Formats: sequence, C-alpha cells, structure tokens
Amino acid sequence: MDAAQPARLGPAGPPVLTARKLRVVYGDRRELRRGAGLVAVDDVSFDIAPGESVAVVGESGCGKSSLARTLAGLQAPRVGSLLVGGEQVGSPRAWRRKRRAVQMVFQDPASSLDPRMRVEQLLDEPLRALRPDLDRRQRHTRIHAMLEQVGLQPEHGQRYPHSFSGGQAQRIAIARALVVEPDLLICDEPLSALDVSVQAQIINLLQDLRERTGMAMLVIAHDLAVVRQLCDRVLVMYLGKVVEQGATADVLAAPAHPYTRALLSCVPRLDARRDEQILLEGELPDPRERPTGCVFRTRCPLADGICAERAPDWHRQEHGGYSACHFAARHASPMVTRALR
Ligand SMILES: Nc1ncnc2c1ncn2[C@@H]1O[C@H](COP(=O)(O)OP(=O)(O)O)[C@@H](O)[C@H]1O
Ligand code: SF4
Ligand SMILES: [Mg+2]
Repeated sequence: MDAAQPARLGPAGPPVLTARKLRVVYGDRRELRRGAGLVAVDDVSFDIAPGESVAVVGESGCGKSSLARTLAGLQAPRVGSLLVGGEQVGSPRAWRRKRRAVQMVFQDPASSLDPRMRVEQLLDEPLRALRPDLDRRQRHTRIHAMLEQVGLQPEHGQRYPHSFSGGQAQRIAIARALVVEPDLLICDEPLSALDVSVQAQIINLLQDLRERTGMAMLVIAHDLAVVRQLCDRVLVMYLGKVVEQGATADVLAAPAHPYTRALLSCVPRLDARRDEQILLEGELPDPRERPTGCVFRTRCPLADGICAERAPDWHRQEHGGYSACHFAARHASPMVTRALR
C-alpha cells in the first residue's frame, strides 16, 4: 500500500520524460490565487522510458488533453515538476532547450496544419527552428525522406494541406512532428477525426515509425483495441487522477479498479460474464466540485463509507500494476479480452 502514485513502472533506463505530482488548474487569476478553479489534472506522476509506448485512457473530460498539452510544454502545470531527458523544464527558457525532444500530434490534422503553407514549408519550419545546424540542402533531403517514411510522394511537398484527405493530412502532421527526430511523440486521439478505413493505416504507420526510430510514445486513445496494439503500458484516468496503471495486457486482462472494469464493460465481448461487468451510469461529476475521498465514488457501485472519507492509497496488483481503490485486491478480476485482440 502506498499513498504516492507509483511512478517507476516502465522498463529500466533514464526516462525521456518524468512527471511528478502534476496539477493543472483552469480559472481566472482570482480563483487561482485562492486555490479555486477547475482541476483538470490532479497529482499525476509517471515516467516514460526511452522507446516505451504509454497509453492514457478515460472518458471525455477526464483531463487527458490537459495532461498531454502540459507534457508537451504547451501549457504550464499549476503544481508539480516535469523533467525531459533528466532536465527540469520549469521555465519557458528551459523548455526551449528541450523543445526538439517532445513533439505532439493532435486529433484534428486539418486544424493543426497552417492552410497557407505548402507541405514542404510546414516541415521546414520546425527544422529551421530546432535544427539550426542543418543547411537548406540538408533540410530539403530530410523533408523528402520524412515524407516518404509516412507514405507520401515528394511532389506532395508542393501542395497545400486542404488538397489532402484526412488520413493524408494526419500523415503530414506526423511527418512534421517527427522530422526533428523527437525522443517522445505525444498523440492526442490521433485517429478520432479519421474514417474507420484509414485508422488502421495510421496505427500501422505509428507502429512502424516507432520501431524504426526507437522513439517513445504517449498515446491518448478511446479505442482499447488501439491501445492494445500500440502501447506497452496504460494509465487509466478519471476526473484528473490516474486510478490504475500497469502493463497493457495485464490491465486489459485483469482490471483491478472498478472504473477500469466499467470502461472495459463498455467494449462488447461475446464471452463477457455478467458478474464481471460494471455498468458506467451517470455523467462525469463537475470537475469544479470534485467528490471528497475517492473521485469515482459518486458512480462506483462498490462504494463504501470509507470511500467518501479517504482518498484511496495505491495497491500493487499481482501482475505488478497498481490500482487506487480501497478494495483493489478484492475487485481484481481475470477478464478475458478476446474481443479486443
Ligand atoms: N482551456 C480550458 N479552460 C477551461 N477549462 C478547460 C480548458 N481545457 C479543458 N478544460 C476542462 O478541463 C477538463 C478536462 O478537459 P480535457 O483535458 O480536454 O479532457 P479530455 O481530453 O480527457 O476530454 C474538462 O472539464 C474541460 O472542460
Ligand atoms: S475506493 Fe471506493 S469508490 Fe473508489 S473505486 Fe474503490 S470502491 Fe469505488
Ligand atoms: Mg481530449
């Protein structure tokens, strides 16, 4: 049993990213000064090892994008620290030195690409800013190689983003992020805006690029089948908190936290046993009025008196993962996830 969120769960090696007790709060200056506001991310700690792929899952509104933007340095946490490659990135200046190391791909490729720039310019911009050591010719060579790696033709470099399909535009966004050779690629629901027929191609592309480059990935995804395919480890978020974490295969096969079980119960499975399922009823509570004790207690069918009184500690599971539930050991359930394969 441990009160602090266990952070070191990944493979050995110096982490590409270290998050400690991150708290992201939205509000005006007055609210923030008196400790009020909307808490989007609460006390989140974890490491990502080189080459590791980590998923963040949870319902819409639970803080996944706020966490992703904070990890990518696009917004500052209210509390907590972030290290990139072992170096603190607490200030904008410190972030500038580490800018190349962490790149991000967003949900909607169409709105993340400047429509006034040709593809080649789109890729040249980050290269000029982050790789000043490369001359024009070297950048040109690198851009063309990158376009080829994501399955585009050299002549696509002269076109504008609007002339591409959603899947091609996401390939351009991925190329733009990878052209500076980051150590960590953060993908915030990279498939959500794409047709189902194109989603598999983008998953395969990400998997292929990860194997080829050895980069680490943080993937936010709704579809647990995508998580299973792309990620070694999974963090389950609820109302800004990580409530369960562990190796993907273990968490999907034997979810210990009632919220994870509820999420998995939403995935139709032919072999699902009724007693294993937890139906997720009601809406996510207002993050401005978070429940006392366990954040999941207002929707948890297993909630007990202690759940309102005290936030649960972390409990280590048999398979090595962790769950933040007062009754984690009792609720561990060997679920068969054949339908997810
Ligand atoms: N810029 C913002 N200003 C105020 N509230 C925000 C902002 N961005 C997100 N939120 C709120 O923070 C919470 C978490 O949102 P978000 O991080 O987008 O979650 P997710 O990506 O899991 O859907 C939500 O309640 C959302 O309304
Ligand atoms: S601590 Fe209580 S309310 Fe929270 S998930 Fe466990 S049983 Fe449910
Ligand atoms: Mg989001």
